[in-house]
Formats: sequence, structure tokens, C-alpha cells
Amino acid sequence: MSKYLITSALPYANGPIHFGHIAGAYLPADIYSRFLRQNGEEVLYVCGTDEYGVAITINAEKAGIPYQQYVDKYHLVIKEFFDKLNIRFDHFSRTTIDAHKPIAQEFFLTLHKKGFIKAAVEPQFYCTSCNRFLADRYVSGSCPKCGADNVRGDECTKCGEWLEPSKVVNPTCKVCGKKPEVRETTQYFMDLKAFAPQLKTWLEAKTDWKPNVKNKALSLIEEGLVQRSITRDISWGVPVPLDEAKGKVLYVWFEAPIGYISATMDWAQKQGKPEAWKDWWFDKETKLVHFIGKDNIIFHTIIWPAMLMGQDKPYILPDNVPGNEFYNLQGRQFSKSDGWYIDTEDFFTKYGVDALRYAIASNSPETSDSQFTWEDFQARNNELADTLGNLVNRCFSFMKKNFDGKIPTAGELKAEDKALLDSFAPVFGEVGKSYSSYRVRQALTQTMALAITANKYVNDTAPWALRKTDLARCGTVLNVASRAIINCAILLYPVIPNTALKILDKAGVHTGGKAPAYKPYEGSLDNMELGSDTTLLFAKILPEQVAAEVEKLKALHETGAK
Ligand code: 2FM
Ligand code: ZN
Repeated sequence: MSKYLITSALPYANGPIHFGHIAGAYLPADIYSRFLRQNGEEVLYVCGTDEYGVAITINAEKAGIPYQQYVDKYHLVIKEFFDKLNIRFDHFSRTTIDAHKPIAQEFFLTLHKKGFIKAAVEPQFYCTSCNRFLADRYVSGSCPKCGADNVRGDECTKCGEWLEPSKVVNPTCKVCGKKPEVRETTQYFMDLKAFAPQLKTWLEAKTDWKPNVKNKALSLIEEGLVQRSITRDISWGVPVPLDEAKGKVLYVWFEAPIGYISATMDWAQKQGKPEAWKDWWFDKETKLVHFIGKDNIIFHTIIWPAMLMGQDKPYILPDNVPGNEFYNLQGRQFSKSDGWYIDTEDFFTKYGVDALRYAIASNSPETSDSQFTWEDFQARNNELADTLGNLVNRCFSFMKKNFDGKIPTAGELKAEDKALLDSFAPVFGEVGKSYSSYRVRQALTQTMALAITANKYVNDTAPWALRKTDLARCGTVLNVASRAIINCAILLYPVIPNTALKILDKAGVHTGGKAPAYKPYEGSLDNMELGSDTTLLFAKILPEQVAAEVEKLKALHETGAK
């Protein structure tokens, strides 16, 4: 048994999140956590909202709402969205909790004391009409690296380069549109270069990382790590804990990952064991796994590990950083402001959560960008309905009707029965390997292959015909088919947990809502009483529904883009 501390990137409390975020950092982590729990591993899955930073202050100011009130609102909106999607954190915290500030300041002070953080006077854009320094996204201009227009001051949205706010070309103030002037201000810089050798050795030893993540991290080191400013002249954030730095706060990207620790502290506090967070963060046996989108690679593979390496306390380092690529919507990025999004309220009144989880997972952006399209969603939903739903429905309703609501006893087994029964263990082995190595798409292909085989088995053995000619053989076939169904449900549990539990309940395997153990079902099914639920698992989506959804998206875009 191992201990896994799993995190998903802390979403900014800066508006609702969308399926693109879900595909990148949340669903994969939820699937992984559920799979590990099925295997009896000790798992703690924490997350929370990232509530500081300039992206938030700009929008709160635009909305005319106090910062705290603004993040309170989106913390709840985001939390509810995760609940709806059945993303099951052990704890969902926020970076504005009391526990966050002291630990973030401690990280800063320790690095400062050891000489890894130094002050320097630097030119920075200052807007004379707004009377302030233009931190990060308060300034916009073109990227000094790739030339893209309209990038924000701290990160290029196009090439992903982490920018120093004073480096954008042709700057304008985001608030008033004026050209800022350059003034000098003191900021604090983290000496990343000092950690380069240690980071390189650590990264090179990671043989099980996704190549895109590892290569990106190593190439950043290769390009040369430079000093990075980790403080900002704004009022919303964790104050820099130095007398001479009044009015400055920690850069959001410095304190946000510390949110993983404060979220664990918050969890421990709520368990009534305030020290229990140390059992995770200071225990060498803990495997720390950060699920993120590719835009967060530098922060989780360079800056954050360096921050941890520079502490005095025995913090563990990330064991793995499964980074995903981007997930778009019908050919372009999800964007609320462009009207290119899905109305999730409406979505969930019409379609099931598990159909969505399945669709996203089957097409997960594991190695390259992928997208949600209504056509693909229909295909995935209908694949579930035709393969899994149909198998469950025809077998269980047949047994309800003809076998008194019980799974009939298995008699002598024929070669075709044995072939199906013997396939379970290897499938569990293969699928397990896929889940453990973050290859959910592959896990689903392998599992659905079993569902297809089971359907074929039922078609070929035709229990409906056997009922009239050989009732005992009919019973054996249904017994074997029921075991295949139960095993498919166990294999699919990480991805479609509610449906899997529903199938198990239908079959009479009642787990009381708990995750079923990850192994082929071993108990006898002879005469097992089927559950009372007879509802259909998935409703098919019709072509006219898809056409209407695509039209709706286009209409929303036309009005939204105006
Ligand atoms: O990119 C983002 O949405 C950030 N809020 C992610 C932060 S992850 C962690 F470091 F907190
Ligand atoms: Zn201005």
C-alpha cells in the first residue's frame, strides 16, 4: 500500500470554470483517485480556489465588487460545479483562509534567509492616470518572445512564456488604455538558477513522467533559469513579510501552490487533527501527484519544486506532474466573453453527468489537444447506451421476467463461457496499468472492448431462444453475462461512478455507495436477487438534438461576440 496526496491545479475564483478545465486537471485526478481507492490505497485528494492575483482584482474592480466578496461568490460557483460533476475531493479549500498566509510567508522568509530571494530595484510600468504600478495583467501589449498581440503582463497566452511585467512590447494600461511610463520600484526575486543542478538531477530521474511534461521542464533548464520577481505592488494578496516591503504582496504564482499545503492543513483542522497534514507533506512515503494543464508546467516542475527544495522542513517533492494538453469546444477555445461556451445548467437538465465524464475521458487531451464537439458527445453517449446500457437492460429485464428477479444458477461451462470468464483477469490487469499511468483513453478502449465481447457473447448464445429449448443452459449464459456486466461496472467506476454503482445495485451487488474493490468479482451469483431499480441507464441522443445544440452555440457566439 502506498500513500497518495493528489492535487488538481487550484482554479482562480474568477468566474465559472468550463469543460476545458475539467478535462485538463480535475476529471483525470478524480479518476485516478477513485481508481487508487478501489485498490485500497490511502488517498488524500485536495484542491481549492486560487483567490489572489491580478486577474481577480481587475475583474472585481470592473464589477465594482469588493475583492473578498467577489472571490466568495466564485468559490461557491466553482465548488457547486465540481459537486455536480462528481469530482470528489477530500477537501476543497481556498487561498484566502487564515492558515494560508502564515505558511506562504514562512516559505518566503526561509528562502529569503537562505539567500535565495533578493531585493532589486527595477523599472516597471506606472500608469499616471490610474496612479499605480501596472502589475501583471494590468498591462497588456505584445509578447517579447513570440510577438503575439494583446498578451497579459505576466504570461503570454499564445506561447506560454512567463513574462516579467516590464518586458511586454507596446504596453497599455488595461484599465484606462493609456500608455504607461517607466518608474523604478523594488521587487523581490527568486534565484531559480541556484536550484538548476538539483532540479535537473531530480527531473532526469523521473522515468515514469509524461514526455511532454518532462521535456518541457528540462528544456526550460537548458534555456537557462533566470531570476523571477515574486512580489507585486498591489493590495490584494499575502503581504510580503518584511518591514521594508510595506504595500507589497507575494506574486500569486508564488503563493498559490502553497495552497496545496494550506488546503491540507485546512482538511486536517476539519478532521480535528490539526497536525495531520504533516503525515502527508513530511512523509517520504507519500507520493505527491499534481494534475495540471500544460500552461502550468513551469510552475509545477521548476518553481514550486525549487520552493520546496529551499525549505528547512522535510517537505516531499512532487512524485509526478501529469500535465494535460488543452481541451477546446468545437474548434476553438472555450470563452465566455466570446459566447463560445456551453450553458452548463441547461446541459445537466438534458444530459447525464456520467455521459459527460465518459465523453471527456474517452477524448481526454492526454498527449495532444482535443475538443468537445456535440457530435462526439452524441457518439460517446450513444456508445454507452448501445453497448453498456443495452447489455445491462436486456439481461436484467430478461432475468426479472423469466427468472423471478434472480440471477440463475450456472451449470456446466462450455468453451465460450470459459473464454469470457478467463478474459476478466487479464482485462483488469491491462486496464489497471492504463489507469495507473494516466492513460484513461486507453483504459476505456480496453474496458469497452470487454463490453463489446460480452454483447457478442449474449448475441451468439441467444438466451432468449434457449429459454424455450434449454432452460438450464439459458441460466448459465445469463449467469456468465451478469458477471461480465458486474466486471465492466467495476472497471468503469473511476470514470462513471454513479452509473457503475447503479449497475452493481441492479445486479444485487450492493456496496452502499462505496467504491467496489478493483478486481474481478469473485462471489457466487447463483440465485442472487436483482436490485429493484429498472430505470434505463442512458437515453440516446438524436441527430436533431445535436443540430439544435450546434445552432444554439452559434447563436450564442453571434450575440456574445458583439
Ligand atoms: O492557472 C490557474 O488557473 C492557476 N490558478 C493554477 C494554480 S495551481 C497551483 F499552483 F495553485
Ligand atoms: Zn491606467
